[in-house]
Amino acid sequence: MLVSYLKIKNWRNFLLIDIPLRQRQFVVGPNAAGKSNLLDVFRFLRDIAKSEGGGLQKAIKNRGGLSKLRCLAARRDLEIIIEINLSEAPDEEPVWRYAIGIKQETRGYRQPVLSFEKVWHNKKQLIDRPNEDDKNDPERLKQTFLEQVNTNADFREIARYLESISYIHLVPQLLRYAEVIQGGLIEDDPFGQGFLVKIAKSTPNIRKIRLAKIEEALKIAVPQFQQLRFERDKDTGQPHLAALYAHWRPKAGWQREDQFSDGTLRLIGLLWALLDSDSLLLLEEPELSLSNEIVSQMSPLIYRMQRLRKRQVFISTHSESLLRDKGIDGREIILLTPSSEGITADIAANVADIRPLLDAGLSVGEVVLPRNRPKNIKQLGLFE
Ligand SMILES: Nc1ncnc2c1ncn2[C@@H]1O[C@H](COP(=O)(O)OP(=O)(O)OP(=O)(O)O)[C@@H](O)[C@H]1O
Ligand SMILES: [Mg+2]
Repeated sequence: MLVSYLKIKNWRNFLLIDIPLRQRQFVVGPNAAGKSNLLDVFRFLRDIAKSEGGGLQKAIKNRGGLSKLRCLAARRDLEIIIEINLSEAPDEEPVWRYAIGIKQETRGYRQPVLSFEKVWHNKKQLIDRPNEDDKNDPERLKQTFLEQVNTNADFREIARYLESISYIHLVPQLLRYAEVIQGGLIEDDPFGQGFLVKIAKSTPNIRKIRLAKIEEALKIAVPQFQQLRFERDKDTGQPHLAALYAHWRPKAGWQREDQFSDGTLRLIGLLWALLDSDSLLLLEEPELSLSNEIVSQMSPLIYRMQRLRKRQVFISTHSESLLRDKGIDGREIILLTPSSEGITADIAANVADIRPLLDAGLSVGEVVLPRNRPKNIKQLGLFE
């Protein structure tokens, strides 16, 4: 199952987006174009659907309230709309469709409420809210049916799917200093602070298989890297990763993750995530800290891993190296372009002046990224 279509209205800096989605989807655009905002739609749906500590009110509250979510450019029509289709494959008819509208109560505490919630299975509509009960008791519109086990029974598959979405934006310093920072773990750990604990929680067998795979990859990518292993501190029981490098003295010993380079840590986090499950994975700028050579292999790597696991992956990126791979199809690129009317989101293959260049054999990176450059960017170098 994958998300084959997304529509959003009045979500953060987007007035309207209406796009088909593929198994691997790159989100490209200049700084502040809305790449992270776009990925956040899926985290938001996950936060609503979560069976523990989820729900609409909390998902909105964690983001600072409805006024932070609603597009500031929206003038009259202040409803936020999110709609997704889930299909077995891209371009296929949806198996499931889920849509919600969110607005603010006009009276009272001005809390967020649903303006509608709709669910379809194959072409049959299962849910159409507000229903009679909602009209009699408007309080009910503060919760989605999606978040409640007694109301989502007929479409639990959607809830489970959304709940299993994962996001990583691994920040090496947070992982390194996890023990010192202690306690301040952000819900769902988007920045990888609890990454070692996550590894520790996997079964020994799965851990062994995954770390062996990651070790193979690190041997290729990191000079002199030889071995990777999982260990626990003898005194505290804390989980650690340890590495051995070929050029060290024979008895030099193992080095722990707080000594690993940023790129090594990010690569380990990325590979672990790709091996981790078959649900939707959101990767935020996976190129950070990594050399161009490694980044240029990322897109074929993701493609090959997807063939095995069918994991859908959305990737925000600024990297020419990442998009240099000729195997990337123009349909796999969502191009965010700021203009005086707000941000537009286009599938690169559908943009009239991009398509011929891709057909002529240029890579997506060569064609798409130069368009992102702010017009007067050279002036930044003259800044004093
Ligand atoms: N409710 C809102 N209405 C309008 N604009 C918003 C709203 N919320 C956030 N924004 C704008 O969205 C922009 C940030 O978008 P985002 O963080 O998604 O960018 P990005 O493409 O990920 O950038 P970067 O490449 O720097 O990470 C900011 O300019 C912010 O002002
Ligand atoms: Mg961003």
